[in-house]
Amino acid sequence: MIPYGQQSINDADVSAVVDVLQSDYITQGNSVPAFEKALATVCNVPHVNVVNSATSALHLACKALGLGPGDTAWTSPVTFVASANCIRYCGAQVDFVDIDPETFNLCPKRLAEKLSHHSKNGLPLPKLVIPVHMCGQSCDMSSIHKLAQQYGFKVLEDAAHAIGASYQGHPVGCCEYSDAVVFSFHPVKIVTTGEGGAVLTQSREVADRIELLRSHGITRDPEKMDREPDGGWYYQQLDLGFNYRMTDLQAALGVSQLKRLGTFIETRRQLAARYTKLLSDVPLKVPKVANACSSVWHLYVIRLKLEELSLSHKEVFEQMRDMGVGVNLHYIPVYQQPYYRQSGFQDFALPEAEAYYQEAMTLPLFPAMTELQQDTVIKTLAKILS
Ligand SMILES: Cc1ncc(COP(=O)(O)O)c(C=O)c1O
Repeated sequence: MIPYGQQSINDADVSAVVDVLQSDYITQGNSVPAFEKALATVCNVPHVNVVNSATSALHLACKALGLGPGDTAWTSPVTFVASANCIRYCGAQVDFVDIDPETFNLCPKRLAEKLSHHSKNGLPLPKLVIPVHMCGQSCDMSSIHKLAQQYGFKVLEDAAHAIGASYQGHPVGCCEYSDAVVFSFHPVKIVTTGEGGAVLTQSREVADRIELLRSHGITRDPEKMDREPDGGWYYQQLDLGFNYRMTDLQAALGVSQLKRLGTFIETRRQLAARYTKLLSDVPLKVPKVANACSSVWHLYVIRLKLEELSLSHKEVFEQMRDMGVGVNLHYIPVYQQPYYRQSGFQDFALPEAEAYYQEAMTLPLFPAMTELQQDTVIKTLAKILS
């Protein structure tokens, strides 16, 4: 089976991890700060906190941005469940804004309409909006930022798919139009630490809060304590935090992987361009990249033209998998999940998210993919659809 995604680990990555294993500290050593520094440089942002997953990063960012019980936050329905779950972890209510059918990202026009409707009808307005950069392409952040200023909400970019991408010529992660940005380092993502995530922000206050919360709410800094330390062993718990720390083993892998970010992206771009070219005669819709964006192609998602096919979406899927091509579907609209159905979304449906779910299919794309493997995917798809 050709997988839809796969990590790329080389000898340098292995030695970086082995070096940490043979050192005095396998957690809370030098590699975590080194990885944070490297990420800050790549993204041109002052503050980075790495954690054990993007899910933890989203949770801490929501908390640090002040989300709590009684608040509401809005996100995209076409995303992994973590983009919405982080809101629920804070005891806040979730709502969804429909996507743009071309980019699959949260649509600023639908957001503007929903904000105006809620404002006029006394319905809850969001304290926070979480746009998701689907497939590695940034959302239309300047439009979302304008609405944030108009309606007074905060913005947290879920850039789990998008490290290395750029928007209006600036790196995703620089927080030009947001309060914080989250990356994921899960193995299928652009760079990996096994499991891992990061929160990036321009705000020292937000970064300090995340740093505290990722390690139980504990500080060892005498300046932050409410009294003189009893001795060198002393620490204080200032808030109810978590153990969301990244290990040095993971961070060392991250530093090593980040050195190949450019190569990973270049390979993904070449493979994506090749898909787009070679699929031009196959009856399907290829993905588009908006003018302001440079995508890193975490995912290559096509949409089937079901009206022109005699097969169903499910049949195309099953035939592809039967023929050894590991296609996938990113994602089932989050409000369709039983947990969300039971939490107020019983009869809820957003038209573009629904249409997307009927037609979308993720084709394999990963740095080590060969042209031969890609040709197999294209030929198999063309054969099934013809
Ligand atoms: C858009 C999005 N957000 C958040 C996450 C959660 O990432 P992690 O697995 O690092 O917790 C994922 C993971 O797939 C994702 O795709």
